[in-house]
Amino acid sequence: MSSIPFYAKKFVSGINIEEAFATVERLNEKNICVTLDLLGENITEQKQAIKFVEEYDILLKKISEKKLNCYVSIKLTMLGLDIDFDFCYNNLSQIMRVADHYEIRVALDMEGTQYTERTIAIYERAAKEFKYIEIVLQAYLLRTEADIERVLTANGRVRLCKGAYKEPAELALKKMPIIVENYKKLIQKLLTQGQRVCIASHDDDIIEFCMDFIEKNHIPNEKYEFQMLYGMREKTWSRIREKGHNMTVYVPYGVQWQAYYARRLSERKENVFFVLKNLFKS
Ligand code: FDA
Repeated sequence: MSSIPFYAKKFVSGINIEEAFATVERLNEKNICVTLDLLGENITEQKQAIKFVEEYDILLKKISEKKLNCYVSIKLTMLGLDIDFDFCYNNLSQIMRVADHYEIRVALDMEGTQYTERTIAIYERAAKEFKYIEIVLQAYLLRTEADIERVLTANGRVRLCKGAYKEPAELALKKMPIIVENYKKLIQKLLTQGQRVCIASHDDDIIEFCMDFIEKNHIPNEKYEFQMLYGMREKTWSRIREKGHNMTVYVPYGVQWQAYYARRLSERKENVFFVLKNLFKS
């Protein structure tokens, strides 16, 4: 495929590094940091994982060469978590050696619950060996409060989001107001005890709660950042910066955009309306 179809362009920055970097440069000019995500997940062949490792190594080198305000996010199933735990860990280690060398952060995205324990185990192991590793936790999971203790014991670098996968009621909170309450409870602990906390949400209720908490508790600027997804609430990014907070946008790119795009459509009806509106325009 030579380009992202027009209906997915709102959420996916491009097909290759050059297109992704054009977005990074545009956002950096506005003092907004980027976390770049090379799209891909649930690979089944070792050679696919190795190709992704090579692409991430090139990406990290180029971010450093261009001195971009940018780091990366990775899904462990793109590094072979479905194939073998140690194979996946070794692939991550190769990326982490390059990331630590260039002092560029690497965040492990959190996927469905069949991967939660293994993702945390890999993060814990990597945090003993590498400095620039971070992990995503999901506020809708019942286990997350206990997982936060583990992350705080490792290196305390975490991105908290609500959670984007369909999970059963035995494992996850189902009602949005209860997820939001849990998010607020967990983020307070992270903001006071974490090393670096990423507040990943487009929800004004959560954003305003966090801003208030940060101000009242004098949480220093270098300890946290707000984060949103590319294509969502663009005007709010600059407003958050204007209030003096760090702002990072999660920018995905790559040929395997379909699964990511489907999650964006399923979590918000307005995203579907946007796509339909543009289909009719064309
Ligand atoms: P949600 O969609 O719940 O909306 C809540 C309210 O926010 C809305 O009612 C509205 O008021 C406001 N709002 C939301 N979007 C808006 C818009 N576009 N315009 C105006 N108002 C809007 N998930 C996961 O499982 N694993 C992961 O690794 C990650 N990683 C990740 C990174 C980053 C940087 C972000 C921001 C998110 C993730 N996610 C994720 C996705 C996350 O779990 C969640 O599915 C989405 O962020 C949606 O939840 P929100 O809290 O953002 O708003």
